[in-house]
Amino acid sequence: MSATSIILSVLCAIVCVIGEGGRTPPTKLYVDGRDREHGYTIIDEQIRYSGWRQVLRRRVSAPHLGDKHLDFDVIDQAKSCGAVVIFAWNSTSKTATIIREYMPGPHRVLSGLAAGIVEDDKHGIELDGRESLELIAARCELEEECHLAGGTWYRLTDEGVSSKNKLNSQFACSQAQMKSAVSMDKYVVTEITPWLVIDPEHVLEPRPMDDEEDIVIISGVPTDDILKTIREGDMNIVGAFASLLALEKLRSLGEI
Ligand SMILES: *[C@@H]1O[C@H](CO)[C@@H](O)[C@H](O)[C@H]1NC(C)=O
Repeated sequence: MSATSIILSVLCAIVCVIGEGGRTPPTKLYVDGRDREHGYTIIDEQIRYSGWRQVLRRRVSAPHLGDKHLDFDVIDQAKSCGAVVIFAWNSTSKTATIIREYMPGPHRVLSGLAAGIVEDDKHGIELDGRESLELIAARCELEEECHLAGGTWYRLTDEGVSSKNKLNSQFACSQAQMKSAVSMDKYVVTEITPWLVIDPEHVLEPRPMDDEEDIVIISGVPTDDILKTIREGDMNIVGAFASLLALEKLRSLGEI
């Protein structure tokens, strides 16, 4: 390879990386680059059912299908700009605060973490440019469900991991830029951002819970018990996902 072509390929590499708009360049893990261009297009989207949740019929075309198309039923939250889930940690007692509640899907009382959807109209009014809508929503949910506030907050996913899903949809969220939210499931539109908060304090008069919420707050839970609830299937996947990321973060901070 001549010197010129080496310089050109280095330049190309730089330009190509920048040109990816922040997307990770190809590696062994992301053979075609992370979040690769896919050529699928949403050609129609209808709300087929709308209640607490919405079922959208999404009609998608793809280059390999020619004139044919694919229909998918995907689930979205009504009025939502994504979701948040919060792992609360007490650095003095080295324990977490979790909740136990009746979960209508599994029809069981299971363990979980404080979590909720990000609501444009509810959380957007507190938006003042200093904090993201996701963080405001996370603070609200922690106060409502665990009666805790303040503390040091860590987002557990990287900035820029969110898909551009919402922007492709006619149901785009007006204010939120859900920068770090992760897809909850293959057939779910809602994306979730996991948080760790260290040393939040008790709130004497917490925000009221929503009517349907019937929650028991369990504080003083050691890490071994968190792992046990996950292994025993006593915590749902979203709670377990955030807990495991939080424990990993606590380890990297030297907390555990
Ligand atoms: C954190 O743990 C310490 C030691 O057990 C306790 O005194 C304190 O009240 C706990 N903080 C919260 C918010 O529960």
